[in-house]
Amino acid sequence: MSSRRHVVITQFGPPEVLTLTTEALPEPGANEAQLRQTAIGFNFIDVYQRKGAYPLPLPTGLGFEAAGVVEAVGSGVSDLQVGDRVAYMNAGVGAYADWRNVPADRLVRLPDSVSDEAAASLLFKGMTAQYLLRKTHAVQPGDLLLVHSAAGGVGQILTRWAAALGATVIGTTGSPHKREAALAAGCEAVIDLTDAAWPQAFLEATGGRKARVVYDAVGKDTLIRSLDCAAPFGLVVSYGGASGPAPAIEPELLNKKGCLFLTRPSVFPHNADVRTFRANAADLFDAIGKGHVRVDIGERFPLDRIAAAHAAAEARRIVGALLITP
Ligand SMILES: NC(=O)c1ccc[n+]([C@@H]2O[C@H](COP(=O)([O-])OP(=O)(O)OC[C@H]3O[C@@H](n4cnc5c(N)ncnc54)[C@H](OP(=O)(O)O)[C@@H]3O)[C@@H](O)[C@H]2O)c1
Repeated sequence: MSSRRHVVITQFGPPEVLTLTTEALPEPGANEAQLRQTAIGFNFIDVYQRKGAYPLPLPTGLGFEAAGVVEAVGSGVSDLQVGDRVAYMNAGVGAYADWRNVPADRLVRLPDSVSDEAAASLLFKGMTAQYLLRKTHAVQPGDLLLVHSAAGGVGQILTRWAAALGATVIGTTGSPHKREAALAAGCEAVIDLTDAAWPQAFLEATGGRKARVVYDAVGKDTLIRSLDCAAPFGLVVSYGGASGPAPAIEPELLNKKGCLFLTRPSVFPHNADVRTFRANAADLFDAIGKGHVRVDIGERFPLDRIAAAHAAAEARRIVGALLITP
């Protein structure tokens, strides 16, 4: 293969700024593996970056995760071989491509039980759920959790895994047609976020009990009222802003709402070194093997319809994960 197709943006803006281009494929450099990508993941962070909400130097590629087959390795690569099936989620932007050279220490070999499509659609989201329920809070049997966007990509994985660990999960969704997916993922009750009184609906569903942890990646539209759903000394995890950036919060408000803890974590520092990354991935693959984590692919888009994929995600149309095929 001497050329590759990849998506670039030269300006921030609507989905139409995503442009598929062809360029020469360089040989893999030292400590790099060359991948023929077979499946590419979509994550909501890709939208923030395309719009410039998380600005990148331009021009830039986009996309954080993909799976594929190692077709060549550069010098210094000893732990991967041609023919290995691998995936990544933490190798910098540029996954929207058919071929890509990737630092070998950002790759994890896939077990037979995890297909390329499953890996590409759940590694980033699954590794997010992994740290959210192992590290941000070590979820225990009996914990009551509120998970926003429970029918979404991260939301479904987090819900299913937390329920398997014995937690009671109450989910929210932004439209009634996502309710069944949230229930199927393991929510005990699903709250409709379009109901302005959703915090009261949450308390009605729990008999007045508040959550040990609130997982909120909706941000602007929900975070302040998420504080009302957390039990005294509870934890509110603001891990995204699908509706816009989360508002600033005065520490004194956390006191008034019940001596709450508030954190804003990210998946990248949790997987910054190769040993931790591969150990976390092994934990995720183990959970997949046990059936605690599963991916429901909502829709597939070929690489040349990447703009339509972004438009569908932003319209909140996708239930489950969106997969891009090279
Ligand atoms: N901090 C981290 O480490 C980390 C890592 C991965 C992802 N994330 C965050 O987790 C969230 C979920 O990511 P994902 O890739 O799995 O996406 P996703 O859940 O499949 O899509 C985002 C969801 O946000 C909800 N939403 C609420 N208001 C919205 C709005 N105004 N516009 C669009 N969507 C809105 C929608 O669900 P409803 O319609 O049901 O409300 C939508 O399904 C994102 O906010 C992402 O940035 C954070």
